[in-house]
Amino acid sequence: MRTVNQHNLTHVFSAYFGDETDPRVREIMTALAQHIHDFARDVKLTHAEWQTGIKFLQWAGEITTEERNEFVLLSDVLGLSSLVDMINTNPEATSSSVLGPFHVSNPPAMEMGDDLRGDFEGQLVLVQGKVTDTEGKSIPGAQIDIWQTAPNGLYSSQDPEQDTFSFHGLLTSDDAGFYRFTTVRPVSYTVPTDGPVGDILRAAGRHPWRPSHLHFIVKAEGCKPLVTEVFPTDDPYLDQDTVFGVREDLVMEYVERPASDFPDNLALSGKVREGFAQVDFDFVLAKE
Ligand code: BEZ
Ligand code: FE
Repeated sequence: MRTVNQHNLTHVFSAYFGDETDPRVREIMTALAQHIHDFARDVKLTHAEWQTGIKFLQWAGEITTEERNEFVLLSDVLGLSSLVDMINTNPEATSSSVLGPFHVSNPPAMEMGDDLRGDFEGQLVLVQGKVTDTEGKSIPGAQIDIWQTAPNGLYSSQDPEQDTFSFHGLLTSDDAGFYRFTTVRPVSYTVPTDGPVGDILRAAGRHPWRPSHLHFIVKAEGCKPLVTEVFPTDDPYLDQDTVFGVREDLVMEYVERPASDFPDNLALSGKVREGFAQVDFDFVLAKE
C-alpha cells in the first residue's frame, strides 16, 4: 500500500495526471501544487489559519459581481496582476499596467479634440500624443479607450451621481497616428476596502491608495492590445501604489501652460480662460 506523507504528497500529486493531459496544464498544475504545498509546509499552516483562508475566499466570491470582482482586486494587491503584466511586456513597447475593475465596455465614441471634463470642477488637462508600432511607424485608426475617476475620486460605476459613461470615451487616432483630448486632472484614490481585500490591507498595515492616473486600452490591427495607465510625476503615492501599477515609462509631467497656449480645433478652443496642464504621451504597440 502506498503511504502518502507530508514529504511525498507533492510528488504523488504530480503523478496523478492522465496521459491525455495538456502539457501546459500539467506544467502549471504541477508548479502550483509544488508552491502551495511548500507554502503550507514552510509556515506550518494550522487548521484555524486554513479555515480563515477558506472563509476569505468564500467572502470574496459572495461579494463579487459584474461591476466588482474581489478576486481581481486580490490579484492586484498581491502584486500578481502586475507580475503577469511585467512577464508579458515587450520591452520595446509601452509597458502595460493593471486594468482594474472600473472599465466600462462600449464607451461612447469621441471626436478628435473632444472634452471629457464637462461641467466638473478641477484643472483642465490636455492629453495628446502618437500611436506607433515598435519600429516607430505611425498607426492611424487605432482605438484608444480612455477612462478615469471624477474629481471626487470615484469611477462612474461607484458613484450614483455620475452617468454610466462619465469620464469614459473611445477616441480614434488620425491619419498620422495622432490623438488629442481634454479632461480633468485625475486624483489619487483608494481601492475598495469594505471587502476581504480591505481586511488583508489592514492586517498587513498597508494603505489602500493609488496614485492618480488615466487608464487606456489601445487597440490596432496587427498589434497586441495595450492596457496601460499614465501617472503624473508629482503624485505623492507614486512610490507606494497599493496595486504596484507604476512603471518608469508611464510617468509623465503635467506641464503648466497659460490659457493663451490652448490650441485651436479642440472642443474647448476659444472657451479656456484659465491655465491648463499638458501631458504628452506616445503609445508604442507591440506587433502580434
Ligand atoms: C484602478 O486603477 O481602477 C484599480 C486598479 C486595481 C484595483 C482597483 C482599482
Ligand atoms: Fe484606476
